[in-house]
Amino acid sequence: MTQTILVTGGAGFIGSNFIHYTLKNHPDYKVIILDALTYAGSTDNLPAESLVEHDDRVLFRYGNIMNADMVDALMAESDMVVHFAAETHVTRSIYDNRNFFETDVLGTQTLVNAALRHREKINKFIHISTSEVYGTALSEKIDEDHPLMPMSPYASAKCGADRLIYSYWQTYKLPLVTIRPFNMFGPRQHLEKVIPRFITSTILGEPLTVHGDGSAARDFMFADDLCRGIHLVLDAESSAVTGEVFNMASGTHRSIKSIAEEILDGLKIDHSQISYIGDRPGQVFRHTGDWSKAHSVLGWSPEVSWEDGLKRTLEWYTGHHDFWKKQLWMRAIPIITETGKVELH
Ligand SMILES: NC(=O)c1ccc[n+]([C@@H]2O[C@H](COP(=O)([O-])OP(=O)(O)OC[C@H]3O[C@@H](n4cnc5c(N)ncnc54)[C@H](O)[C@@H]3O)[C@@H](O)[C@H]2O)c1
Repeated sequence: MTQTILVTGGAGFIGSNFIHYTLKNHPDYKVIILDALTYAGSTDNLPAESLVEHDDRVLFRYGNIMNADMVDALMAESDMVVHFAAETHVTRSIYDNRNFFETDVLGTQTLVNAALRHREKINKFIHISTSEVYGTALSEKIDEDHPLMPMSPYASAKCGADRLIYSYWQTYKLPLVTIRPFNMFGPRQHLEKVIPRFITSTILGEPLTVHGDGSAARDFMFADDLCRGIHLVLDAESSAVTGEVFNMASGTHRSIKSIAEEILDGLKIDHSQISYIGDRPGQVFRHTGDWSKAHSVLGWSPEVSWEDGLKRTLEWYTGHHDFWKKQLWMRAIPIITETGKVELH
């Protein structure tokens, strides 16, 4: 029987990759997209058919996840939820963070309360959390039992939502599952995020601005690998995944400086160069994800290599100037650093 998935934040980076992935690979699902089209979301990211009222596989609904009446009506039409919608940019959360706590915490509360009202119908609710909730790694690899030590307002807002989901599982036994992706990259990511910023700066012949000495290291994974992982959770026996948390990661880390160098090499444009500014406050210094739980429970492992993912991403940005040139003005945000200086990050 066809299942309908309510996808929040589907007009953003990962959400839109998930929509395209689902339409291509899972003809058995219908999708309703709920998105408030903030600066980070765009109908340009969506398949054209989602904007047509009579398409029976995918439908876009403009709206805010904090609108309880609207969420309730959409929940009544759905069987499953994949919840991506959030304010997502660490630097922006240092500049101005109120809407992070509103959307990420209260938005999640609104959604999960609606799921509670429709608990007879909703058979799975996947909450997309983030590895940022862990803070800097205390061990070689971060597994799901690593302490939660959020280091930025974004991370703490997401941590609030992550624990809210846990508490609703404990209290109501709703069919809730949490995924903590590590850093994602791929087509349609906003220019404020590091890989698209480096790629487009290189294409434009501008300096690639690296925080600190560039040794901060993250675990980057291509977005399609996460989309595949989410579908494995959707298809899994409820008893195997309900109430669980799964990391999804590549399992390796790369320094930000090495990524800047690889992008310069990959695009073969030699008039750009790396420039350094102060460290970002709340910087996480190293993140490497342990994905063994997702492997043992779901049979999931990352499949797209860093090299292949980067090549596909470079090709996408090289071929989509019209998409990203509208975002150029939003690449840098003025924040006060630890030394009290205002810097564009
Ligand atoms: N990008 C990453 O590397 C990464 C890593 C781990 C986890 N995540 C998580 O994955 C999810 C998606 O991240 P992304 O990078 O695609 O984000 P994004 O910023 O590209 O997109 C967010 C989307 O949510 C929408 N949105 C924001 N506030 C809303 C509201 N109040 N109501 C309805 N829609 C709203 C925006 O319009 C946008 O379309 C987020 O929950 C994020 O925390 C992202």
